[in-house]
Amino acid sequence: MPGLVIVGAQWGDEGKGKVVDLLAENADVVVRFQGGNNAGHTIVREGQEFKFHLIPSGILYPDKICAIGNGVVLDPGILLGEIDVLKRRGVDVGNLKVSANAHLIMPYHVLLDTAGEVKLGKLSIGTTRRGIGPCYADKALRLGIRVQDLLDEKILRTKIRAALEPKQQALRELSVRRRKLRREAGEEPGREGAGAIEDAPDPRLDLHTMTEEHVSFGHRLEPHIADTAHLCWEALDAGREVLFEGAQATLLDLDHGTYPFVTSSNPIAGAACVGAGIGPTDIDEVWGVAKAYATRVGAGPFPTELEDEVGRHMLERGHEFGTTTGRERRCGWMDLVALRYAVRLNRMSALTITKLDVLSGIDPLRVAVRYRSSEGAVFDEFPYHQSILHSAVPEYEELPGFEADLGACRSEADLPPQARAYLDYIADLAGVPIRLVGVGPDRDQVVWLGGEPGLKAA
Ligand code: IMP
Repeated sequence: MPGLVIVGAQWGDEGKGKVVDLLAENADVVVRFQGGNNAGHTIVREGQEFKFHLIPSGILYPDKICAIGNGVVLDPGILLGEIDVLKRRGVDVGNLKVSANAHLIMPYHVLLDTAGEVKLGKLSIGTTRRGIGPCYADKALRLGIRVQDLLDEKILRTKIRAALEPKQQALRELSVRRRKLRREAGEEPGREGAGAIEDAPDPRLDLHTMTEEHVSFGHRLEPHIADTAHLCWEALDAGREVLFEGAQATLLDLDHGTYPFVTSSNPIAGAACVGAGIGPTDIDEVWGVAKAYATRVGAGPFPTELEDEVGRHMLERGHEFGTTTGRERRCGWMDLVALRYAVRLNRMSALTITKLDVLSGIDPLRVAVRYRSSEGAVFDEFPYHQSILHSAVPEYEELPGFEADLGACRSEADLPPQARAYLDYIADLAGVPIRLVGVGPDRDQVVWLGGEPGLKAA
């Protein structure tokens, strides 16, 4: 399977990093195709924990090319920070390649993201405030700065100047409006929180300083800058395996997710073509990653959300705190209406189910199989209309739970019968086989169903 795409099947944080890390063993190239440092994944290797936000998980293998594709938005300071940490821990980053066409998250994007969220108040999306939305907006407006621009100071300065002017104005207006609201509310004027802009010119928005800083980022990134699409073609044409690593997930997709509570890129499999520069027929397989239950960070509809002790169990046992922002994740039952939608939208060929161990001790287990709208209409399919989804009440099937700790299971036969029945039920209703099951955070805490890739199926 030369071209394999890995996507999140729910609302993100499904544990894609570990799956990519395992599958990377048989791959030659791992490429990220969308998102930015709003993503975060933790990989535990020989007791050492690695946290990445931008760098593809395959970087821990010295012989793999790890590419950041053109569809990614990249904060150069953050990327260089990750490179430095890896170098200090003895990881060779020579094979890290960064697309010259990837867009840069600039300081004003981060400020605008925060200011936009503050302005929305109760209606805020709960973004990671990493500047993702404003950066993709500039890309679409053709005001974006790309990685290649870092290598030419004159072009860089001209482009920053053009992009900066409307941002300064927008930020000033937002700040004035915010202070007026605070005054009306009788609050003391004074220094506002992170991201606030006062009347005085903000040093973070100084053209000269920003240009200088980015020129120096360019010097440091230069050895990594490459034509990453070409790297993918070479590998694919030679029959070598390329893994396309999605960030975020299907239900956060800008077009197909729970808009407007979504991210600003397309995390679905089809976007691997655009974000890495390959054709649809380069994709041989699509693997979706779903947790054995469901989580969501940030605002937006989440039909199977639990606000009881079962949700608390999932939060605590599953350590459901964001890698990027540290926020508590909302937890809930496995939602098969949403999963079926994700399976079809991505045309998945396989599923991996992570964190099955977290469910031990919960009895019975519930899975949502359909929704009912507030008017009583039944939805077997994921509803496209926002207001239906917001008020959808899930209907559940109950399955027997299991008590045993799954951490030591390494084969299907080691799993308790109730756990196997739970997996069979999911695979049946989702309509795709489950190939891999996670039973703990360590790299080896997995159960392959039907044999490991690269080995003959058992
Ligand atoms: P943004 O991507 O920072 O603009 O945030 C938009 C929405 O996507 C918010 O609800 C975030 O919590 C969510 N989001 C962004 N990245 C991730 C991720 O990697 N995991 C889970 N949720 C994410």
